Order: sequence, then structure tokens, then C-alpha cells
Amino acid sequence: MEQLKYILAIESSCDDTGAAVLCNDKVLSNVVAKQEIHELYGGVIPELASRAHQQNIVPVVEVALQKAGIQKTDLSAITFTQGPGLMGSLLVGGSFAKSLSMALDIPLIAVNHMHAHILAHFIDEEGFDKPTFPFLAMTISGGHTQIVKVNSFVDMEILGETTDDAVGEAYDKTAKILGFPYPGGPLIDKHAQNGNPKAYAFTKPKVDGLNFSFSGLKTQILYFIQKEVQKNPDFIKENIDDICASVQNIIIKILMDKIKLAVEQTGITQIAIGGGVSANSGIRKALKETETKYGWKTFIPKFEYTTDNAAMIGIVGYHKFRLGIFSDDEVVSKARLEF
Ligand code: KG4
Ligand code: ZN
Repeated sequence: MEQLKYILAIESSCDDTGAAVLCNDKVLSNVVAKQEIHELYGGVIPELASRAHQQNIVPVVEVALQKAGIQKTDLSAITFTQGPGLMGSLLVGGSFAKSLSMALDIPLIAVNHMHAHILAHFIDEEGFDKPTFPFLAMTISGGHTQIVKVNSFVDMEILGETTDDAVGEAYDKTAKILGFPYPGGPLIDKHAQNGNPKAYAFTKPKVDGLNFSFSGLKTQILYFIQKEVQKNPDFIKENIDDICASVQNIIIKILMDKIKLAVEQTGITQIAIGGGVSANSGIRKALKETETKYGWKTFIPKFEYTTDNAAMIGIVGYHKFRLGIFSDDEVVSKARLEF
């Protein structure tokens, strides 16, 4: 029988301080301290994020251990986000993980945040199937938009990615234009559910192959709103549901068209989505519909594993542990980490 491994995982790449404890591929605890301070500024302020991580990291780890019902001395390894992300934020989690692994004299395992969004599907959860290799993963978040061919736990190829803004940024910047607080993606999603997706037509950016571009769409939306508000100052208020539904409609179309192309190019029909934007109800629905329409098998993570969290770091740590892939204490945090 496989020996039980207890892994402590730490995530601090952006503005959420996360700690999780896994026993093999099961999550015993998954704690996230959200940093509300950034809402005041309409976006993440890196210096404030790293200071908040410093304040949060010790209590978050303590709560994660307590909730898991284990002691530090029961741990088999510490795993942490090495990158990509905000340098000051990564350093807090990285330094903490390194020190604790040295103090406890247990292995340290560095994890790529983008691999973690993808491998979150391998967390053992009742009612959630795991994909089999190879599969296609689309990671859609506030920082990234990627389509990846996943060959194994450690072998992944980026087939396409954004050439400018991430899809989450398109949501958040549109939300800002509409006067919503940061991050506005979930609010656009909420209003979209009551609106007419065909009320206003936006055009799809032309981007070759499997790459994406969202900055042109943002400008298109901005000019459209400015023009309409000039004619009617209450345009936003009076039509908020239809505006949100139309924006959501074009974003879903962009994402789904690229996934269809990736399936055509690779012949792979298992599709997994991840990242904060995969919480979006419209995207989830559009993806699920492909199961009956095209016979694809789709994987949508449990809600708590879509946005940044430490459990997803822990599952990568567990598989690296199993495969004997460890980091030494020279490992450094990297704002841009090679895939
Ligand atoms: O993965 P995540 O928590 O952080 C990054 O690594 O970026 O993603 C955050 C992004 C934000 O842009 C937020 O607006 C977006 O995910 N988001 C959504 C929804 N929930 C979160 N966007 C659209 N619809 C949602 N329901
Ligand atoms: Zn993320």
C-alpha cells in the first residue's frame, strides 16, 4: 500500500496568501487570506501585496495545519509557488517555505503556478473525474490565457497564449468602464445571466493560430460605451444586463473558437479549464454543451480550485514528490518562470 505523505503547500504569487495540507492527493485543508486592500485601488498594488503576505503567512499556515489536524512534525515535504507572479509576493512564500523545510529537515519542492492551475484537476474529490494524458488545458485567469497540451505531470507544451491582455483583464477592465469594483469579472457574469447576449455586437479580434488578443476588444468596448453615453448619460444603468451579456458572449466565442481549433489541430478531445475565469457560468455552460454536441470530455474544477489557492500547488508538489523531483535550497523565486 502507498505510504501516506503529508504535504504543506504555500501559494503567494499575487494577492492571495494560501496554505493547504494534502495527504497524498486528498486535500485536508485549503486556507486563503484574500487581500481586500487592493479593491480601493481598482487593481493589485505589488508593494501592498507583499506586505500583506508577510502579515498573513504565519497565521494562514497555522490555520491550515490546525484544520488538517496535523503537527508540523508530521509533514513529509513543503511545496511552494516559485513563479510566475509578482516578485515581492513570491519571495515571501518562497523564503517561508525554504526556512520551514530547513528547520524541519524535510524536502522542498518548487512549483510553477501555471502547472498548478492545470493539475488542480488531479486533486481527489468526490464527483470530479480526473483527465487522462494527453489532454488539452485552457488556463484563463487575471494574469494568463493559455492553451496547453498536457502530456504528463511534468511534460506540457504551450500551444497558444495571449499576445497582450489576459482574459481576466478584459473582464476587469470592462468592469471598470462600467463602474464595477475590482475584480469585476464575477459581477459581469452575474449581470450577463439576466441580459440578452445578442443586444450589442462586438467583433472578434483576428489572431493567428491558437494565440489570443484581448486589448483591442477592451478598446472596442470602451469606444462603444463612450459613444452611447454621449447620446444617453444613463445608457450604462439602463442597459447593464444586456451590455454584460453581450461582452460575455463575445469572450466565450473567442475562447470556444480557439479550443475548437486546438481540438482540430491535435485530435485531442479531453478539455480541462482552470484559473479564476473558469468560475464563469457562461464559459462553464458553453464547455459542457460540447460534450453532447461534439462528444468531447470536459473537466471543470471545483469552484475553490479555480481562483488562486494552495491546494493546487500541493497536488503538483505531491506528484513531484512521488516522481522524486525536489528543489535544493539554492532555488530562487522567478517573476517570469519558463514553462
Ligand atoms: O486565477 P485568479 O484568481 O488570479 C490570477 O492568477 O490572475 O483569476 C482572477 C481573475 C480576475 O480577473 C477575475 O475577474 C476573474 O478571474 N473571475 C471571473 C469570474 N470569477 C473570477 N471572470 C469572469 N467570470 C467570473 N465568474
Ligand atoms: Zn493564478
